[in-house]
Amino acid sequence: MIDQLSARRDVSRPPPADPARSPTGRFRALRLPIVLVSLVLVIAALFATGLALVVKARGDGPAGVVGSPPVASEPAAPGRKTLRELAPPGVRIGSAADGRGLSLDPAYSSLLGTEFNAMTTENAMKWRNLEPLPGVYAWPGADQLVEFAERHGQEVYGHTLVWHSDMPKWVSPEWPAERIRTELRDHVTEVVSRYRGRVWAWDVVNEVLDEDGSLRETLWLRKLGPGYIADAFRWAHAADPGARLFINDYGIEGRTRKADALLALVRDLRRDGVPVDGVGFQSHLAWDEPPRELTRNLRRFADVGVSVAITELDVRVELPVTPEKLKRQAAVYRQVLKSCLAVPGCVSFTVWGFTDSRSWIPGYHRGYGAACLFDADLTPKPAYLALVDELSRHAGTNRAGPAPD
Ligand code: XIL
Repeated sequence: MIDQLSARRDVSRPPPADPARSPTGRFRALRLPIVLVSLVLVIAALFATGLALVVKARGDGPAGVVGSPPVASEPAAPGRKTLRELAPPGVRIGSAADGRGLSLDPAYSSLLGTEFNAMTTENAMKWRNLEPLPGVYAWPGADQLVEFAERHGQEVYGHTLVWHSDMPKWVSPEWPAERIRTELRDHVTEVVSRYRGRVWAWDVVNEVLDEDGSLRETLWLRKLGPGYIADAFRWAHAADPGARLFINDYGIEGRTRKADALLALVRDLRRDGVPVDGVGFQSHLAWDEPPRELTRNLRRFADVGVSVAITELDVRVELPVTPEKLKRQAAVYRQVLKSCLAVPGCVSFTVWGFTDSRSWIPGYHRGYGAACLFDADLTPKPAYLALVDELSRHAGTNRAGPAPD
């Protein structure tokens, strides 16, 4: 076929003319030397620009010589393993994530995908965001995060089904108990069913205790009595029997009264056959207040047969930030990781966002900030390096190392 076509073309072509006779012919004769000269000029220009850029990047001066080692300005040194690559088997290293970051900031998304093998939905699965109107669900925000996680081989930790905060206005305290109960059951069932098989763990109830260990006065408690906690776990379990179901709280990292009360509550729930699989320790900590007895505390929960998890770790620093404070912050991050690694029942270690540019701390803790592993420009801080170091020390050893406290 090709032969036939070229044969036909040959037949239709006029006889070749003497190239030197016409102006276009003369130009054609000159074409080769012109192309060669241009090529040489282009190569010379490229070489000069490249040289100028290299010299600029290394600072002007005699040291800026092509061939010297690259400056260490990148966030992660080439060859250094990421947190998820260093994670021991059975321990997820996660971060909370927010959809705006994913859509607007490619550098944020890339770090989220490469550093972490688990992701908690920071706000997208809160009731107010998921069901803004009665029975009307707004899935795209949560779907986007779940899809991102799946594309990046991350497990999803769903946060949170039942909470007193972040409720839509339409759930009215004026309703009779039966109505409140139906709304709660439907919400839990609808949300867990939608992500059945795609969310490895749920915060079923969040912050149900007060500082003194009593059950927190919420709409749920007032209307439904303490049984709402067991009900929520049972509804969630019915909707996805494969999901791990957690009770999550803050102020329970040390052996506080609240921690004692939570332990008793978990024991009771499990004795009654309620499907509680784990306890989440939020761990919103401060640079100058390392939790005391965290390891022993995690252990006593693990001893009643539940998994434990660090679910929302950040370590806020009082402003202004100084190198000394960042060093102490790093020590707190390291201590919490060490405790988790020391307890075989600790199944995940999650930070509440990884960059200072998207942290909730400045908005909620006046005078504090810089709580995350990376600064606002996504440069790793001493805290990040401390985690890398701690995980590297652990590589290849038995997870249950010596307890740090
Ligand atoms: C915070 C989010 O990080 C903020 O973006 C939001 O404005 C308020 O909630 N404990 C929890 C989380 O269980 O849901 C909270 O998250 C932080 C405290």
